Amino acid sequence: MKTYRVAILGCRGRGTAAARAYYQHPRTELVALCDLIPERLETLGDELGVAARYDDLDRMIAAEAPDIVAIPTGTEFHYELALRVLEYGIHIDIEKPICTTLAEADEVLAKAAAHNVQVAVHHQGRSGGAHQAVRAAIDAGKIGALRYMQGSGKGYYAGYGLMNIGTHMLNSMLGVAGPVRSVQAQALTDGRPISPADVLPSPSGMGTIAGEHVTTALNFASGITATLLQHRFATMDSTAYMLEIYGSEGRLYWKSGSPWLLPEPHFAPGKSEWQQLAPVVPDHYDPEGPAAVEDYQFADEYVQALDEGRAHECSGHEGRHVLEILMGIFESGAYGRRVELPQQDRDHPLLRWRAEAGLGALEPMPRPYAEWLAAEDRRLGRG
Ligand SMILES: NC(=O)c1ccc[n+]([C@@H]2O[C@H](COP(=O)([O-])OP(=O)(O)OC[C@H]3O[C@@H](n4cnc5c(N)ncnc54)[C@H](O)[C@@H]3O)[C@@H](O)[C@H]2O)c1
Repeated sequence: MKTYRVAILGCRGRGTAAARAYYQHPRTELVALCDLIPERLETLGDELGVAARYDDLDRMIAAEAPDIVAIPTGTEFHYELALRVLEYGIHIDIEKPICTTLAEADEVLAKAAAHNVQVAVHHQGRSGGAHQAVRAAIDAGKIGALRYMQGSGKGYYAGYGLMNIGTHMLNSMLGVAGPVRSVQAQALTDGRPISPADVLPSPSGMGTIAGEHVTTALNFASGITATLLQHRFATMDSTAYMLEIYGSEGRLYWKSGSPWLLPEPHFAPGKSEWQQLAPVVPDHYDPEGPAAVEDYQFADEYVQALDEGRAHECSGHEGRHVLEILMGIFESGAYGRRVELPQQDRDHPLLRWRAEAGLGALEPMPRPYAEWLAAEDRRLGRG
């Protein structure tokens, strides 16, 4: 059995998570690290005993010949770095969201196809044990026929929340119900429908966003519907981050790491009880090791996919479809109409909307989220 050689390009938070997963998995070998900041290389290299440390990805690839390069960098760098790595004919594990526009994502997937390699987008929730338990319960008929889903963010400014963790929620919804046919969104800023002046550069380099509170209805090709709530809360609350799945005979409730089943279609206090399900985790995962279980399972799925010559469950195509949904939500919120997917126009719909309104280039905004929020509150006259 082949052992896949893995290199990490970007060694901060998510690079550390990816490195630990590929270090721990028995079928992958962590062969090299790359970062522009020497201390990050040293910290991670020392933790996991990786001697091959680089500040240049081309030199790393030439010297180490990895099978997979993980790209856990800020989102604004995904496009350029993915194209550079794919040019070598190497599989990539790229953090979410795949890119900041559909045109960029199209180019990344075309490059991967041209070199006959795989793209996996790091939506580890979907390959994780709680999601697997939910899927197994659906397949076993525990909730009867699928009817509806409801997902929520945890209180980020909505446009940013969509690009940030909305990607995870949408990818998990795709894992349950398949592709989305159309979206219809209500996007509000300061309690009123967004205007072209509300289009802003995203915090954390996630492209262009709009909307403080966004409520979206999704229509899946399978015929079911879903609601996605991304609403800015006064205080972030991760307990709000959940997916509930409604069937004709029961319901499922998913939080990262934690699946639940209601064996009746409607919750009635005192009459029906939620039952906790066991996450589905492979026997070879050692909880004493450094890897977080969902990142480990993401790596495990990549090993199986490459062994079988197929795409990762969280493939580049799935990641691009998530981006199609996100861009559809922005377009629908802007133009006030339902958007059919996949869209023909691959440019950013919010930039198109602004240009049509005769507005010029976007004013810069701070990159860190807290500073960005403070600037936005000032723009909205909140002091
Ligand atoms: N999957 C998840 O649960 C999850 C959670 C948080 C963030 N994310 C995603 O992860 C990404 C950000 O990850 P992070 O917070 O660890 O990133 P970060 O920006 O804090 O760190 C990225 C690291 O990459 C390095 N880097 C950047 N360009 C490089 C280059 N050309 N060559 C070598 N090194 C380079 C930087 O020096 C930095 O150390 C975003 O896309 C975000 O959406 C995913």
